[in-house]
Amino acid sequence: MAVLLGVDVGTTGARVVGVETGGAVVADASEGYGLAAPRPGWAEQDPEDWWTATQRALEKVIGELDDEVAGIGLTGQMHGSVFLDERDDVIRPALLWNDQRTEAQCVAITERVGADRLIAVTGNPALTGFQAPKILWLRDEEPDHYARVRRVLLPKDFVRYRLTGELATDASDASGTLLLDMGERNWSPEILEALDIPAAWLPQVFEGPETTGRAATGPARSLGLPAGVPVAAGGGDNAVAAVGTGIVKAGLLSSSIGTSGVLFAHTAEFTPDPTGRIHAFCHAVPGEYHVMAVTLSAGGSLGWWRNLLGGDVTYDELVGAAANVPPGSEGLVFLPYLSGERTPHLDPSARGAWFGLTSRHTRAHLTRALMEGVVFSLKQGLEIMQSLGVSCDEVRATGGGARNPLWRSLQADIYGLPIHRTNAEEGPAYGAALLAGVAAGAYRDVADACSRITLHDDVVLPDRARSGVYGELYDVYARLYPQTHDQMERLTTLASP
Ligand code: XUL
Repeated sequence: MAVLLGVDVGTTGARVVGVETGGAVVADASEGYGLAAPRPGWAEQDPEDWWTATQRALEKVIGELDDEVAGIGLTGQMHGSVFLDERDDVIRPALLWNDQRTEAQCVAITERVGADRLIAVTGNPALTGFQAPKILWLRDEEPDHYARVRRVLLPKDFVRYRLTGELATDASDASGTLLLDMGERNWSPEILEALDIPAAWLPQVFEGPETTGRAATGPARSLGLPAGVPVAAGGGDNAVAAVGTGIVKAGLLSSSIGTSGVLFAHTAEFTPDPTGRIHAFCHAVPGEYHVMAVTLSAGGSLGWWRNLLGGDVTYDELVGAAANVPPGSEGLVFLPYLSGERTPHLDPSARGAWFGLTSRHTRAHLTRALMEGVVFSLKQGLEIMQSLGVSCDEVRATGGGARNPLWRSLQADIYGLPIHRTNAEEGPAYGAALLAGVAAGAYRDVADACSRITLHDDVVLPDRARSGVYGELYDVYARLYPQTHDQMERLTTLASP
């Protein structure tokens, strides 16, 4: 059976999976790279590190295969900006999705385009992580570098360029630039003109499963690939992970608790939130869309707490003890804003807290309240989706939040929805391989590719009594941010150098 390769150019490393066309993973390799933070709030990587790591991971996977590679699909961290000069050399390190340096440029974009118009055309307000404000930052802060720019690419599309020599992107990843007209699924002449960004710098936009090019003879030969293997457009990591868990039709959502938390719902139509609290993006499924809520410190909050307690406490011990605490943690609420918050507050100055502490509370109470607070934060995204008329019938849990029974039951009880999970969960690289299968002609379309995905039999249903307790507590949670926002801002100012 032929093999499809999925490549994920992530934030901590590149991962490649080999998937046989029947759907089974047959090989897997990862190669890490560093992340530089030259100043607080900045996050940069050298694009050549992505390409080197991708080649190494590809070599390892290809070396393990018995069968021929039929197609390659690409995915990766969204929003990053790679600046290339006229010789296609990288001008400076890429600014990443979690880089916060562009606040002034976001204000300028909003003034230039208008807040409502920006959401109506691009689906999102100007957020610091997105690509357009990064381009303007280069213009404002590094004019010598800016004068050399001839192309701007997203992370996975830089890897594609090195692999195939083709300049191309896909509609889902391009949605994270703030330059895409969501209705047209193509660059917006209106926004480009308003921001004075040349259209010639941007690659052609394809749909996720379309072929954008073929592995170029040079790189293909040195990697042991048959020359001419089709490379699918692929997509941003969230959209492609959703393909990998079958979130490709209305009514389905995924709830991912990793470092950040992401609630992702498929929509047939472009469904922007007029107040911009959740993202509206193109899906990696042709012609379709999705909405997405992002909690910045989800599993990241638990990781921070565990580190604070000392490295010898395991997650299993910590979460096992929390499972014995009653729902609602005996009157304790946690705000997970350890790195500010995206959904629903869009506020880099939001700050975390445990609220309601008494001398009765133990480490296990604090752990449980923390986990409940993370799911409350995601529930705020769910409520916004429901208020926009997005159908939300079934949730598929992914990431660390799918593996642990307490995380699963918290999600069922707090969302009030059944929680499923897929039998195999391989993350974005797997979805990229499925898209490659469509490009290679192994599958008719994305739905056909996703018919290989099977669900685990244990479904967690919401418990009425526990849901009632969480309903009360959620109300307290939702009121805490607006009531403490001004003081959070003061604390942020006090703490800045
Ligand atoms: C999505 C986002 C992150 C990155 C990181 O809007 O910022 O999920 O894609 O991988």
